[in-house]
Amino acid sequence: MALRSLMTRKTLADCRALGLGFTQLRGLKTFSLPDLPYDYGALEPAISGEIMQLHHQKHHQTYITNYNKALEQLQGAMDKGDSPTVVKLQSAIKFNGGGHVNHSIFWKNLTPVHEGGGEPPKGSLGWAIDNHFGSLEALIQKMNTEGASLQGSGWVWLGVDKELKKLLVETTANQDPLVTKGANLVPLLGIDVWEHAYYLQYKNVRPDYLKNIWKVVNWKYASEVFEKECEP
Ligand SMILES: [Fe+2]
Repeated sequence: MALRSLMTRKTLADCRALGLGFTQLRGLKTFSLPDLPYDYGALEPAISGEIMQLHHQKHHQTYITNYNKALEQLQGAMDKGDSPTVVKLQSAIKFNGGGHVNHSIFWKNLTPVHEGGGEPPKGSLGWAIDNHFGSLEALIQKMNTEGASLQGSGWVWLGVDKELKKLLVETTANQDPLVTKGANLVPLLGIDVWEHAYYLQYKNVRPDYLKNIWKVVNWKYASEVFEKECEP
């Protein structure tokens, strides 16, 4: 480990001497809260503006803050060759990094009704849904059933296996991203079933939240991801 540290220091010193962009080589990339592509109240009455604002400004921001903190600690631990701390940080990175990944997708999965929210998917995704699930209504029913029965906090996903070019419905616990269920899985649509996503408006009736969220689902975004992943 000592030799490795010495070599790393020497390599970094060489980079400095050669003007190779030390901060670029060793710099830590941190993350910031992405803007919503619509106003907080634009999804009403399906999702209240108060929920959207808290969800975005408080919950998503907290995942980002803690993700950045964990990444900084990880870099420090790696620089010191502190393996126990590197390992210890993995759960914080998975949870908070997953929270950032999932919410960044979730905001794009929604759109106001006047901008096409709830309009059924057209083109190849619409055809694939009919082919795989029987109908869009059958897919919605399946996702609502799985989302309602998911114990605790988590997500219900419509995804595509990019190798098999096959749609699937999957759930993940906590803030696990869909990729934790398979390296080839790409999320098309993720529905957040944490209580913070609906409780202020729907209280304990998660099925009502699941019933109404489809009125503001952005199928255009899901279609674009599907076509990109499944193009020949
Ligand atoms: Fe959330």
